[in-house]
Amino acid sequence: MRWAYFIVLQFIFVLVIAGLVYKHKNNAVIIKTPPTELAQWYKPENKRQVWLHNMFKLRREMQAVQFYAETKDQEHLSKWALALNEHYLKIGEMIPKWNKKLDASTLSNLQTTVDNQDYTGVLAVVKTLQKNCDSCHSDYQAITALTYRTPDFSTIEIEPLVSFNSHMQALGKQVNQIKIASEDGMSELAISSLTDLKQGMQKLGQGCTDCHKKDQKPYPSEAMKKTLLSLENSLKTGTLKEQGMELGTLAVQACARCHGTHRLAFGTKVLLSKEPNLSELLKH
Ligand code: HEC
Ligand code: HEC
Ligand code: HEC
Repeated sequence: MRWAYFIVLQFIFVLVIAGLVYKHKNNAVIIKTPPTELAQWYKPENKRQVWLHNMFKLRREMQAVQFYAETKDQEHLSKWALALNEHYLKIGEMIPKWNKKLDASTLSNLQTTVDNQDYTGVLAVVKTLQKNCDSCHSDYQAITALTYRTPDFSTIEIEPLVSFNSHMQALGKQVNQIKIASEDGMSELAISSLTDLKQGMQKLGQGCTDCHKKDQKPYPSEAMKKTLLSLENSLKTGTLKEQGMELGTLAVQACARCHGTHRLAFGTKVLLSKEPNLSELLKH
């Protein structure tokens, strides 16, 4: 009899938890995080993006195996199947925890079908293996790229003791000060804020080349410089509408484009790497 109570109690307990989770399912998302051991296969811990390059190899090898099975070219098929085997197993060598995610039986089927020149069999095996690739990707691909390949701005200093973030806040204020002064007819203040903004952009631009060595895109670019000039002219003699349009163009060229790449990705990375905090979880 006691056991029956116990089981009923357990059942109610599980129901309550399930109910709570269900009630809050719209307020929180659950994301699986990849093993931290992955860091050793990425820059800066590694000289190369080893993990990612192994993945590129796998995709190429899957394509080649499929191609040579379709064209019934045994020699090339054997060569590429061997490479596929090696790089697929390398996943588990690099991250032992992920060994259990690998599909060993499909891999041995690949070997058998290739050895037996069973080309239809090979094509079926490739399909099955692709499902295994997809299942790991649907959980881990995006979050791994975000965690290990998103440029990090949290430690960048624009100059000693001026963090990247506080420099951003200053730029934001300068842009708005131009807008406010323009609207209220304070042309001198608008122009001096524009001078501050230009200097702030110059300083920001010096940091881009640290990472953007190869593409050599200067910041501010020629297009931004042109807009800065016409904004300055319109602040002196233009209409309110012209001033607003020039400022809008500048904000798109000089701020929004970079935000679309860097702020979006960096913000997501910060959000996802936040340590879950017990009181926040309980509040949910
Ligand atoms: C156990 C997990 C796992 C398995 C299994 C796996 N991958 Fe991946 N793969 C990843 C992760 C994590 C990434 C994200 C890497 C990144 O973007 O830095 C990735 C990324 C990739 C990419 C790069 C996508 C892109 O264009 O940026 C390709 C291609 C790829 N995998 C191919 C494969 C193939 C083909 C297989 C199966 C034969 C496979 N992977 C099996 C974890 C896995
Ligand atoms: C910490 C390194 C780092 C810094 C600093 C950096 N970038 Fe980037 N940026 C990158 C990387 C890496 C990419 C490529 C994104 C990718 O492929 O995931 C990129 C991509 C971009 C892109 C989108 C792709 C393109 O070329 O149009 C823009 C725009 C951009 N950066 C602008 C800037 C500007 C402007 C600065 C300076 C104010 C800057 N970045 C500073 C690393 C950096
Ligand atoms: C490297 C490309 C890049 C360029 C160019 C850029 N920003 Fe940013 N901005 C960022 C990133 C990354 C963040 C997020 C920083 C953080 O969260 O610490 C950010 C954050 C901000 C913020 C929010 C600061 C806060 O309070 O958290 C403001 C405001 C801002 N930028 C204004 C501007 C303005 C105005 C311009 C143009 C004059 C500009 N940014 C140009 C990358 C850029």
